[in-house]
Amino acid sequence: MSIFGKNFKKHAHNYSGRVYNSDRKWIVPFFVSLVVWISLISAAVFGVYSSSSYDKDLVNFDVKSDDFEGSFDEIDVDKASEFPKDKAPRLAYLISGTKGDSKRMLRTLQAVYHPRNQYILHMDLEAPPRERMELTMAVKNDETFSEVENVRVMAQSNLVTYKGPTMIATTLQAIAILLKESLDWDWFINLSASDYPLVTQDDLLHVFSNLSRTLNFIEHTKLTGWKLNQRAKPIIVDPGLYLSKKSDLAITSQRRSLPTSFKLFTGSAWVILTRSFVEYCIWGWDNFPRTTLMYYTNFVSSPEGYFHTVICNTQEFTTTAISHDLHYIAWDYPPKQHPRYLTIKDFEKMVNSSAPFARKFPKDDVVLDKIDQELLGRTHRFPQGAWCVGSSDDGSDPCSVRGDDSVFRPGTGAKRLNGLFEQLLSDDFRSKSCPS
Ligand SMILES: *[C@@H]1O[C@H](CO)[C@@H](O)[C@H](O)[C@H]1NC(C)=O
Ligand SMILES: *[C@@H]1O[C@H](CO)[C@@H](O)[C@H](O)[C@H]1NC(C)=O
Ligand SMILES: *[C@@H]1O[C@H](CO)[C@@H](O)[C@H](O)[C@H]1NC(C)=O
Repeated sequence: MSIFGKNFKKHAHNYSGRVYNSDRKWIVPFFVSLVVWISLISAAVFGVYSSSSYDKDLVNFDVKSDDFEGSFDEIDVDKASEFPKDKAPRLAYLISGTKGDSKRMLRTLQAVYHPRNQYILHMDLEAPPRERMELTMAVKNDETFSEVENVRVMAQSNLVTYKGPTMIATTLQAIAILLKESLDWDWFINLSASDYPLVTQDDLLHVFSNLSRTLNFIEHTKLTGWKLNQRAKPIIVDPGLYLSKKSDLAITSQRRSLPTSFKLFTGSAWVILTRSFVEYCIWGWDNFPRTTLMYYTNFVSSPEGYFHTVICNTQEFTTTAISHDLHYIAWDYPPKQHPRYLTIKDFEKMVNSSAPFARKFPKDDVVLDKIDQELLGRTHRFPQGAWCVGSSDDGSDPCSVRGDDSVFRPGTGAKRLNGLFEQLLSDDFRSKSCPS
């Protein structure tokens, strides 16, 4: 707010300065009054804006947390990420898909839905306009989504190349939109249409309430050995950056040397990142995230390296990186390149893993129905949650009436998650962060 104001005045000042040197003296008073006028208008606009967001926060505190009544002046409204630890957290989800994925995206969205959270859906450019329209309309026509206003479909659709930097660019764009549109979220979570949750949002939010808001879940290792040669030396070009039709990555015949000013890390492309870390990446006040982004533009499988390399080379964040992606993924064996489709045979292993998410699932597989039934208690659109306070008589949907969204009713999923986090947060596990 103040930054914008300052820039604005600086511009206005420069402008009137230039005019002052010219012969047309009448312009001076004209511009002086114009500057005054613009300042007044912008002050009024920002006055209204800041007071409305201030009011919103005030209301949130009144409604959701008795402890903060009357003590809100201690809370910095501009710093949503530094809310007190005991306030219930909010998650921001990106769910991405391509041609033919709209139904699965909706199903995953419903399975991870909670009114406290934020959601953004991206359908890549390969999907026909009609399918994107269907998705947009389905979101628009959902009563709950349109009342809570926390689901958006990205209007701009990008061409996304598998293993290319266009994937990172889209993820960063989604984060930027989430930052711009909503002050109130603590973690960013990346899912695709073939992902599905294994715990309810009540479980997840309950367990995350107890976590330090500085922790990033990003599975990582140092890039070494043959992988260095295979990943870091080739130079690729992602045609998705400049062509309008999807095609494979182009690999050039030249190779480049390994970087010496930073170390390369690699790991799972599935990440749960804190707001402060993604702000660091998006804003780039330290040029390192941007430099890394440009370096990764010509890197194979950049989604498996960008955030990992940024976090492990930035001292402020190295100790916040927990090396786990919170996903259950079964790899084909050999050659461990592609995740295997999960079926009903994997159910027990999935649950035993205690991971909150799993991938990848075939479209509408029966295992999803089993998850709905046994793990999520999903009888209607959404999984069970304390926010659903309507009646379930005569088969009606209890979530059609919304209650307090900061009250959670954790179940067995929360127990599993707590077990997993105990492991992940142990000193032994954490000492493995960003190996040097
Ligand atoms: C985010 O999610 C998508 C799933 O569609 C995945 O392919 C991508 O690599 C993920 N990671 C990043 C860092 O973009
Ligand atoms: C939160 O953490 C504390 C200590 O770390 C623990 O005693 C408590 O049981 C945890 N609560 C939940 C809800 O997990
Ligand atoms: C899952 O865990 C239970 C209890 O620890 C164990 O008995 C069972 O064998 C496990 N199942 C699989 C498939 O690992």
